[in-house]
Amino acid sequence: MEGASSQLGLPRDLPGRLLVAGGAGFIGSAFVRLLLALDTGPEITVLDKLTYAGNLRNLQEVEHHPRYRFVQGDICDRELADRLGAEVDCIVNFAAESHVDRSILDPDAFIRTDVYGTYSLLEAARRHHHRRFLQVSTDEVYGDVEAPQLSVESDPLRPRSPYSASKAGAEMQCLAYHATYGLPVVVTRGSNTYGPFQYPEKIVPLFVTQALDGGPLPVYGDGGAVRDYLYVDDHARGIATVLARGEPGAAYNLGQGAEPLNGLQVADSVLELVGAPRELIQHVQDRPGHDRRYALDSSRARSLGWAPELDFTSGMARTVAWYRQRRDWWEPIKSGEFLEFYRRNYRPLEPAGPTS
Ligand code: NAD
Ligand code: TYD
Repeated sequence: MEGASSQLGLPRDLPGRLLVAGGAGFIGSAFVRLLLALDTGPEITVLDKLTYAGNLRNLQEVEHHPRYRFVQGDICDRELADRLGAEVDCIVNFAAESHVDRSILDPDAFIRTDVYGTYSLLEAARRHHHRRFLQVSTDEVYGDVEAPQLSVESDPLRPRSPYSASKAGAEMQCLAYHATYGLPVVVTRGSNTYGPFQYPEKIVPLFVTQALDGGPLPVYGDGGAVRDYLYVDDHARGIATVLARGEPGAAYNLGQGAEPLNGLQVADSVLELVGAPRELIQHVQDRPGHDRRYALDSSRARSLGWAPELDFTSGMARTVAWYRQRRDWWEPIKSGEFLEFYRRNYRPLEPAGPTS
């Protein structure tokens, strides 16, 4: 185990039986693939509702792995959460509605899954005396952060979108379960994540797939809002590190730590890697309540031995290469439910490609 763990840069002291909620999504599936690549490691049960963002094709390469099983279900289902909670000693909660623009159009599912769903999992963990509960949260809970400030974990939470408010509510419940019941909870606050298997609604996969099809790249407002971009495998390793070594009751920022990038810079990077013209950039109406800047100080997580391995240039090269090769993965998505969302969110822009 030691050889395989150190090879992947993962700690050895991970809990033995994990329930990974939301493990069929983008970051959750990367985490599952990473842990199952260890020679010996945790047994993993993935619980996922398979919403529009969940996709069993993300887990295809591990579907016959002896330490893996999949259960389709809703984290809000208290009975199911309790039954599965009895069979594991730890929950890692990735399950969430995760896209800000969808939260602006329809907040309801965000409150249900992110707030009530987290409570449902916390109750299962409490009843079965789990060794750990890891809540996957986000840097968006800090709200808009003035330059040159970096958010640290003791900063107040000032969420400003229905999405970030639902995530802040979730993690506050988690920390309350630590204070009140002594549940050994840890929280990660990851920054904007990109890489393979990301549903093409967030900026990187949307822009990459649009550029590959020669369609418009819709930049909100002046394109000046900045984010810290983290490659998905680095985020997944950060979560594993905090799971193994984090101090109960603490939150950990997980950010790249480089100069944050704005929307136009992301668009330029995509266009250059794809080899598409700058004319594809289209400024569209700004997102309501758009946070101008997120930026993290991740020294606390770094003190546990975690550091990102890929910078933005190498991470984007891998990402664009993957989307180039995996049209079989994203083309069916862009012709399905995605179209309805795209038309509501980006009126009057038409999506690119054979589906438009
Ligand atoms: P995603 O939307 O790709 O995946 C979410 C998964 O949760 C999907 O598989 C979905 O089917 C599942 N799910 C949704 N509702 C559910 C429910 N009620 N019961 C069971 N499963 C349900 O999201 P992601 O980008 O992989 O994000 C994973 C987590 O990381 C989320 O909690 C998100 O808030 C957080 N996060 C994401 C980013 C990012 O940039 N993507 C950054 C920081 C934190
Ligand atoms: P997004 O990927 O939605 O993540 P976040 O949760 O941080 O909002 O957006 C990242 C940045 O890119 C954010 O400043 C909004 C901007 N953006 C666009 O300009 N156009 C788009 O179509 C999208 C989805 C995002």
